[in-house]
Amino acid sequence: MSQDNVAVTGQGSTLEIRFDRPEKRNALSRAMYARVVEALEGADTDAAVRVVLLTGTGSYFTSGNDISDFQRRASGNEQRDGSPFLTALSSLKKPLVGAVNGPAIGVGTTMLAHCDLVIAAKSARFVMPFTSLGLVPEAASSLLFPRLFGHQRASAMLLLGEPIDAETAREWGFVNQVVEDAALMETAQALAARLAALPPQAVRQTKELIKNGKTDVPGRIAEELTLFRERLRSPEAGEAFAAFMEKRKPDFSAFH
Ligand code: COA
Repeated sequence: MSQDNVAVTGQGSTLEIRFDRPEKRNALSRAMYARVVEALEGADTDAAVRVVLLTGTGSYFTSGNDISDFQRRASGNEQRDGSPFLTALSSLKKPLVGAVNGPAIGVGTTMLAHCDLVIAAKSARFVMPFTSLGLVPEAASSLLFPRLFGHQRASAMLLLGEPIDAETAREWGFVNQVVEDAALMETAQALAARLAALPPQAVRQTKELIKNGKTDVPGRIAEELTLFRERLRSPEAGEAFAAFMEKRKPDFSAFH
């Protein structure tokens, strides 16, 4: 059921969070951010949830931050440090899949840099019109996007606000796969189910290494090795090894 224009539904071990304000092209209001934060924080503590999937209702993923909220903030004297939404999104321990059902504007694009895997419908496009609104980038996009697809491409998007289409985003490594619009949710849910069937601690630790591991090679090797040695003795690895020897499919459903 949709509450505050966000629908949060459990699909097996996947928690689906859907921006559900199609009449405003899923523009994100403060109430919507708060609801998404609640869902993300709940996902990390709920053992039944293994994967989180983000998507939108209708033809837009999201048209970005609600501009009337921007206006209200501009006219008030709010002095908040940080954004609970960006904190919850970027610190989520469980894997996050983006299913981009249409254009993703502003924070609609920048939030995807914090997803682990992204599937885009053919109708998706990505645009960050920050400078034309007199704003600057957020969600660490000015750090992550040059790193991900290069300084010049990131500059065209962030300085000029040039949009890219779904296929370009795939070529640049920003999305994993582009599918027909009608196949989006089935593809994204199948991907989420694949993640959910894996050993959950191994998945969370791998995500943590990818996102926050040490940045020098010797340091990272040492960090991985410490975890690797622990993992060799873990019940999850025990089940994987036993299943291989017994020529059966492993079952990680009991692990959290
Ligand atoms: N904030 C607040 N309201 C928004 C919005 C946003 N980001 N995006 C769309 N809306 C509202 C419109 O004001 C309109 O409301 P109304 O029906 O009460 O007049 C409704 O959503 C539909 O938008 P409309 O512009 O008529 O639809 P469209 O399909 O022609 O265009 C967009 C869709 C998304 C291209 C266009 O609305 C747009 O450019 N929105 C602003 C995007 C933006 O700059 N976001 C901020 C990024 S930092």
